[in-house]
Amino acid sequence: EKLLAPSGPLNGRHVLITSGPTHESIDPVRYIANRSSGKQGHAIAAAARRAGAQVTLVSGPVNLPDPVGVAVHHVETAREMLAAVEAALPADATIFAAAVADWRAATAADEKMKKNGGAIPALSLVENPDILATVSRLSNHRPRLVVGFAAETENVIAHAQAKRLRKGCDWIVANDVSRHSGIEGGVMGGDENAVHLITADDVEHWPKASKSEVAERLVARVAAALGPLET
Ligand code: CTP
Ligand code: CA
Repeated sequence: EKLLAPSGPLNGRHVLITSGPTHESIDPVRYIANRSSGKQGHAIAAAARRAGAQVTLVSGPVNLPDPVGVAVHHVETAREMLAAVEAALPADATIFAAAVADWRAATAADEKMKKNGGAIPALSLVENPDILATVSRLSNHRPRLVVGFAAETENVIAHAQAKRLRKGCDWIVANDVSRHSGIEGGVMGGDENAVHLITADDVEHWPKASKSEVAERLVARVAAALGPLET
């Protein structure tokens, strides 16, 4: 199965996907991270493979098996994720499902920080590189289709539309990660998702479905947008 790609609408296409959280070290035993299981990103990678694509998955730390037939690069930090994405280009389509930590500690301590009965340490943060924005703005090797995700807790559509313009990507898959989202167990870590697909001129409200059904539907849309392989 690793050698023979399934035949499907993405045959001959390279699809690059990010998934999971990133972990940003504070000291050897502590880190900053987002709540992300990687389930949605991994489901997209598996669906793209089933559709016949050559798939590269750049994954932060998750408790999930590597999808079969997918080239998986395991990373910890946002900076490592960006480097792995850049190394995997060019791609026909990129889907950035990872929940990247926006900030990291300005300096990670080499040794475990100790209480020592002293003052409470202040955590000084610096901003991480924005992988989605970086790839969206590439002048060379910009993928034909760049898809981002937006995790929002309020004004989901408006925030996601603004995010699409700010990042320079083609589509945004927006989901409501608030506790009133109506998703059992929450979107983060759960098996279901209800998303809105934001394109340049449209907003589609997709019904609540399993993350794997959402992945199938998104991959079908990606295949349709890329069209048949030019020969
Ligand atoms: N993203 C990224 N690199 C970052 C931060 C985010 O590639 N350093 C990507 C995510 O993978 C996602 C999209 O950008 O596809 C939106 O992430 P989100 O956290 O919703 O947006 P931010 O621009 O970080 O805005 P904020 O967290 O302030 O809402
Ligand atoms: Ca963010």
